[in-house]
Amino acid sequence: MCSRLYFVMLLVAVAKFPLEAGCRFEFTNVNCTSFDKKFGEFEYCFLKSVNRSYKYLSAKLQLYQLPITKILINLVMWKRYNGYKPFLYNITVDFCKFINNRKSNPVANFVFESYQSFSNLNHSCPFNHDLIMDKLSIEIMNHRMTKILPFPEGDYLFETTWFRSRARTFVIKIYGTLS
Ligand SMILES: *[C@@H]1O[C@H](CO)[C@@H](O)[C@H](O)[C@H]1NC(C)=O
Ligand SMILES: *[C@@H]1O[C@H](CO)[C@@H](O)[C@H](O)[C@H]1NC(C)=O
Ligand SMILES: *[C@@H]1O[C@H](CO)[C@@H](O)[C@H](O)[C@H]1NC(C)=O
Ligand SMILES: *[C@@H]1O[C@H](CO)[C@@H](O)[C@H](O)[C@H]1NC(C)=O
Repeated sequence: MCSRLYFVMLLVAVAKFPLEAGCRFEFTNVNCTSFDKKFGEFEYCFLKSVNRSYKYLSAKLQLYQLPITKILINLVMWKRYNGYKPFLYNITVDFCKFINNRKSNPVANFVFESYQSFSNLNHSCPFNHDLIMDKLSIEIMNHRMTKILPFPEGDYLFETTWFRSRARTFVIKIYGTLS
């Protein structure tokens, strides 16, 4: 069972928790959209199942107006009931400020730590290159979702919206199931 939820601890996002045996997180879908194709486009964005235990997410975002010195990223976590409802987190970070002071936002830092070794979006600004997520594996998410922060079972959606000068620019939606 993955049913215990530790709100207070989630907010702190640093403590380690006892294992909740048997919980598994699976990616089920991904959707990457660019709303400003002059600024950037996704060259690819997909989930791949290599076998039953190895599934990964890869994406490449080509950027046409470099360097990037300021970008706002909003993360909303959704959980499905009768349709998806916002669940627990709705945070917005100024990425370039955050990356220089990661402790300023423990939730964003938790997310950052999950993908940092799979992405070239893991250094301080400016960004002078395309952004790549290379084989973010389910095992990492599993570890982080079930062992570090126990969440209730169900279907989740992690939606990140990137804003440039207040305009919605990119939306990345990652769907998954915790069972
Ligand atoms: C992907 O998301 C965009 C907007 O975020 C939406 O317009 C589009 O219909 C979605 N595509 C699929 C296949 O769900
Ligand atoms: C799944 O694929 C990965 C990568 O190729 C491999 O390391 C692993 O042993 C495979 N697992 C199974 C159960 O076949
Ligand atoms: C997230 O918070 C922002 C700012 O408070 C708000 O404008 C937005 O509607 C919220 N998003 C969701 C999905 O609730
Ligand atoms: C950033 O990602 C690259 C690979 O994409 C990796 O080699 C490097 O170790 C990562 N840096 C950090 C601080 O995780």
